[in-house]
Amino acid sequence: MNITLNTLSKLKAENKKFSCLTAYDATFANIVSGVGVEVILVGDSLGMVLQGKDSTVPVTMKEMIYHTQCVRRGNQGSLIMADMPFMSCATEEQSYKNAAQLMRAGGHLVKVEGGSWFTNTVSKLTERGIPVCVHLGLTPQSVNKFGGYKVQGRDEESRAALINDSIAAEKAGAAILLFECIPSDLMAEIMTKVTIPVIGIGAGPSSDGQVLVLHDMIGATTGKVAKFVHNFMPDGDGSIQGAIAAYHQAVTNGTFPKPEHGFD
Ligand code: KIV
Repeated sequence: MNITLNTLSKLKAENKKFSCLTAYDATFANIVSGVGVEVILVGDSLGMVLQGKDSTVPVTMKEMIYHTQCVRRGNQGSLIMADMPFMSCATEEQSYKNAAQLMRAGGHLVKVEGGSWFTNTVSKLTERGIPVCVHLGLTPQSVNKFGGYKVQGRDEESRAALINDSIAAEKAGAAILLFECIPSDLMAEIMTKVTIPVIGIGAGPSSDGQVLVLHDMIGATTGKVAKFVHNFMPDGDGSIQGAIAAYHQAVTNGTFPKPEHGFD
């Protein structure tokens, strides 16, 4: 079955959770979609995970197009969300041109890191047939502005700004919201203010969907592992397929994430 944005809205209306994982190539796209994960994110995290860079900032449109094409070839029906890399939406004209390239490469929607400054572009892309996921909270392309990978929305001002940005993004026509590293209680509050599907990572259990970086959840990591990551290899049958199936099951039955994966 092909997953569409309508599928996600229907799951939300039925109070059912859905899962999302990153994939950057045809083989993993085939495995992830074969297991039934609803959304594949061709994330610009590929800059760090595949290329060993310090951040996602150096990732280019050319690289995102290439990896989206690879994922499309392996996909068996998941919804493909392709990341718009750093500065690819600096102007409206650039946003149209770059988002169109990702859709032609095989994306079903694009994901953009941005707050209320971006609402005009969200409306215009949506009007022109390109659904947009707005990524809020810890937006890794702004790591240099944040001074590190820090939990966002902990003080009253930034909390209120995130709530306002969420409402503004939905009003502008965003198809999905994605929140990274915000307090679990803030995520729960935002869930009462918006009606579109919401995906979380390090944002507690209340969102409709959860996303992890594939390499993290199969334990293919070096260095410090983030608090919101769980290695699913021991939870499956010992294979990578088994770990991904265990992740999908845990997300959809609501047993992942647990409170200890979230932030106060
Ligand atoms: O690029 C990516 O993989 C992401 C997720 C961490 C949400 O944006």
